[in-house]
Amino acid sequence: MRKKAKFHKRGQPFFLLVATVIALLLASSPVAVPAFADWRYESRINSFDYKQTYGYWETLDIPEEFRMNTVHAAVLPTGKVLLVAGSGNNLDSFNAFDNNGEIAVLKTAVFDPSSRQLKHIATPNDLFCSGHALLQSGSLLIAGGTSGYELLEGEVKKPAGAIVIHNEDPDSPVKTLKKGTKFTSPSGKVYVSTDDATVKPASKMDHGNGDVMIHHSSAKVFVEAIAEDSNYITSKSEQYSIEGLRGTDKQNIYGQGGPMTLEKQDFRGDNKAYEFDPVKEEYVAVGDMQESRWYPSLPVLTSGDVLAVSGLDSAGIITETTEYYNPGTKQWSWGPNRPFPTYPALFRTMDPSILFYSGSSAGYGPADKGREPGFWNIKDNTFRIAEGLRQTDILETGASVALPPKQGSNDGSQSHKVMVAGGGGVGESPLITARTDIIDLAETNPRYTPGPDLPEPVRYLNMTVTPWDEVFATGGTRDYRAKSNSYSYKSYSYNPTSNNISSLADTPIGRGYHSGSLLLRDGRVLVFGGDPLYSDNDNTTPGKFEQRIEIYTPPQFYRDTPPAITGANSQQANRGQQLMFKSNDADRIKTARLIAPSSATHVTNIDQRSVAAIVHKQGDQLKVDLPQDENLLPNGWYMLFFTDRQGIPSQAKMVQIVR
Ligand code: CU
Repeated sequence: MRKKAKFHKRGQPFFLLVATVIALLLASSPVAVPAFADWRYESRINSFDYKQTYGYWETLDIPEEFRMNTVHAAVLPTGKVLLVAGSGNNLDSFNAFDNNGEIAVLKTAVFDPSSRQLKHIATPNDLFCSGHALLQSGSLLIAGGTSGYELLEGEVKKPAGAIVIHNEDPDSPVKTLKKGTKFTSPSGKVYVSTDDATVKPASKMDHGNGDVMIHHSSAKVFVEAIAEDSNYITSKSEQYSIEGLRGTDKQNIYGQGGPMTLEKQDFRGDNKAYEFDPVKEEYVAVGDMQESRWYPSLPVLTSGDVLAVSGLDSAGIITETTEYYNPGTKQWSWGPNRPFPTYPALFRTMDPSILFYSGSSAGYGPADKGREPGFWNIKDNTFRIAEGLRQTDILETGASVALPPKQGSNDGSQSHKVMVAGGGGVGESPLITARTDIIDLAETNPRYTPGPDLPEPVRYLNMTVTPWDEVFATGGTRDYRAKSNSYSYKSYSYNPTSNNISSLADTPIGRGYHSGSLLLRDGRVLVFGGDPLYSDNDNTTPGKFEQRIEIYTPPQFYRDTPPAITGANSQQANRGQQLMFKSNDADRIKTARLIAPSSATHVTNIDQRSVAAIVHKQGDQLKVDLPQDENLLPNGWYMLFFTDRQGIPSQAKMVQIVR
């Protein structure tokens, strides 16, 4: 069934003749030729034939007041999309918040893809470069963010460094040392904290034989000298006394810190955490993390707990600590220490105690630490390296994706494969690759094997799992943060079943660092962000954040209308249960897939994965058998898509697996 008349066929002789004549007429006018080329391009990409073959990119018309530096986005159980900018890599926005408490600059909005409406959300903290994950309840956990911006060498005027506040008293109440608290060195030099610090009581450890050991608590805080004076530089680690403490607190609570330097300062993390309520559409503060984190990954475990991994701490140092979030108590507790680069790509596996680390990360870190892919047992903190990955020095800012099940299959067979695609050398390295490698976690001894090369080498590729069992890939750049305007405008689809990559419509907008993509409830793909270092080919003019948001409609959407499914739009269900729906399009339905809603930032989207369900057809009835295995289908929210023979998905039904 065709919805629109064709405008013209590509390559039609008459069109070519007219085009050639016009081109010849315009040949003497160099200014007019690009305009003509633009017009020709526009008419080509807007033609029905082109859309039917390659799909279509639509740039959303966003009112001025909602334009923001979107760095984070997540699909909520309502089908709406939370868009978060925070200070959005803009020091002025950060300072406006930091100095005046102007929360308005820390933008968050909820976007409704069906009505195309946007709504402002009051935002309590700078969530820029936080981590996020959809909890089993449907609330979005957001942890960490920015407490300090990067300062390059020469920009640092006041000697500064980290102080760890120790508390030896197990009986003292929790104290907050406000931002601006003074710390005095043994020689009388005063440094001031740049953020609040929460000091917990020391812990008592009873060894059972009457011996009670006291372990002091620790809280890290960043401080800077009260004056722009190089006399405050020190290489020593010293004990600092803390302003405002009285009585026994004065003996029990002290700072241990240094050195204090004028060296380059990295971004500093925040330890605040929130649950975003998808129904009330508001942030609710939960327990602070024990560590501050900037660029953490937040894999959701099968139990529903979340593990916060990596990130820059309150002093701008990459932490090796991890911590569990318990959604019941809304508190954090320490997990196993392990070094990873920031935003590591960690995936759940069929063993609830094992996370698979693909080896790629969207952030950064030392070249020689935490770079090897493998299986991390978070219970005993052992790590088994996965062999076979090629070009292990070209993994940073690469993409990782859990591949969908066999295309069109309706036998309940699942995929446990993970693909690594593209990436660059560590830091501002010119190294870049088109390599893809694939590992099947279901094998006895899983190892990476080569996949097909991408159409071109690329960093910051965005990959989205689709209901028609392919991976949609778009954007990226050929150099660090789009240097020299090195955008890839290509989009393509990877089909894991045929192992082929096929071209789709070029994207009109270049995107790289600070971009992301996610699957909407209607099967389209939303793409946001992009933060180039420079805006010109010579790398002299500072870059401008890409505030435009696009929605990509895949080609098969132009071949027929999506299957219409009746039945509960949103419901709770148990594993192993059969769900019932009706559809006049039942005869053309081929598959049912449960796809976990995306939570994307920094080209990292580890939540998305597709689980096959079995669909039985009887007249206009569709019965869906949900899988039984909790490790395959943990509790939580899924988008249930029915997809037809041509790969056209229905609007997803939202299903919350509760047990
Ligand atoms: Cu960032």
